[in-house]
Amino acid sequence: MIHSANAATVAQAAQALRDGQLVGLPTETVYGLAANATDDAAVAQIFMAKGRPADHPLIVHVASAAQVPLFAAQVPDFAQGLIDAFWPGPLTLILPRQPGVATASAGGQDSIGLRCPSHPVAQQLLQACAALGVHGVSAPSANRFGRVSPTTAAHVQSELGADLLILDGGECAVGIESTIIDCTRGEPVLLRPGHITRVQIEAACGRAVLDKDEVSQPAPRASGTLESHYAPRAKVRLMSAQDIDAKLHALGPHANNLGVWAAKRPDVGAGVIWLEQSTVSEQAAHDLFSVLRALDARGVQQIWVQLPPDAPEWEGVRDRLHRAAA
Ligand code: TXA
Ligand code: MG
Repeated sequence: MIHSANAATVAQAAQALRDGQLVGLPTETVYGLAANATDDAAVAQIFMAKGRPADHPLIVHVASAAQVPLFAAQVPDFAQGLIDAFWPGPLTLILPRQPGVATASAGGQDSIGLRCPSHPVAQQLLQACAALGVHGVSAPSANRFGRVSPTTAAHVQSELGADLLILDGGECAVGIESTIIDCTRGEPVLLRPGHITRVQIEAACGRAVLDKDEVSQPAPRASGTLESHYAPRAKVRLMSAQDIDAKLHALGPHANNLGVWAAKRPDVGAGVIWLEQSTVSEQAAHDLFSVLRALDARGVQQIWVQLPPDAPEWEGVRDRLHRAAA
């Protein structure tokens, strides 16, 4: 059931969450599959609906920074600086967890992922939930495990079925999932790149951001960090623009059932579907998952993607593309 978001449907969704049900939730990054973070039985339904292993922790979404102490045992100074700079917005912080709180959601970790989304519908829903005594909402991306994240309400319905109550908040503006910073190791560690870049993180907190392979203990399981993820049905291949042109030229009229996401229209026949890849990283991030879905829906067997530049603002898009191609 897709409901356009308004005061009545938001109130209905908040009650559903309080009553232990799941809700499809728009955020500025991607759509989430939401449940009351402290209701272990409701959270278990998320893992079932997604087909996600129960030891992959979920992000708890909060209406404001005031709710952080309910879930986090401690907030290092640099993490507070990131909250002040980027919340509400597409940034998730991993913090030491309050013992005994949101245990199922944390997937067995003694840490907790917290994020305060900026999407107006997410904000309204989280505030309505808080008024009903639900102070955190766990929400992984609303896709089946390993598949492409949804950026529209229709995507959520096609992933999870017609019975789910989905609030329609339009197309997600960012299009890729939040940047995740692990704040439990004394230094900020980048677990997942996103719209907020490592350069912005470093500027806001005055610390160097480490990569996850630079820290000694293994990072907790993070499905968004598995090598193969975000995979459409079609096989994704990453190439330079020159390679795309050369291979298409070599195939000539034999190029069939092929999707191409590249900045410039290649010289191709009817068997190839070209979609334009923006040269602006934010626009390409916005388009990425819906392009993969659209080409899948057109039945192509392969998707050839022009690999964007190895520049800081492209880190999030390149990360998702490498996983989609793995
Ligand atoms: O933008 C987003 O973050 C979206 C929207 C819906 O808010 N949510 C999202 O959730 O991407 P999900 O579950 O698809 O990805 C969450 C990532 C996973 O890689 C998970 O393992 C990691 O966050 N994560 C959550 N809690 C963690 C923890 N305590 N320690 C380490 N990683 C954690
Ligand atoms: Mg996900």
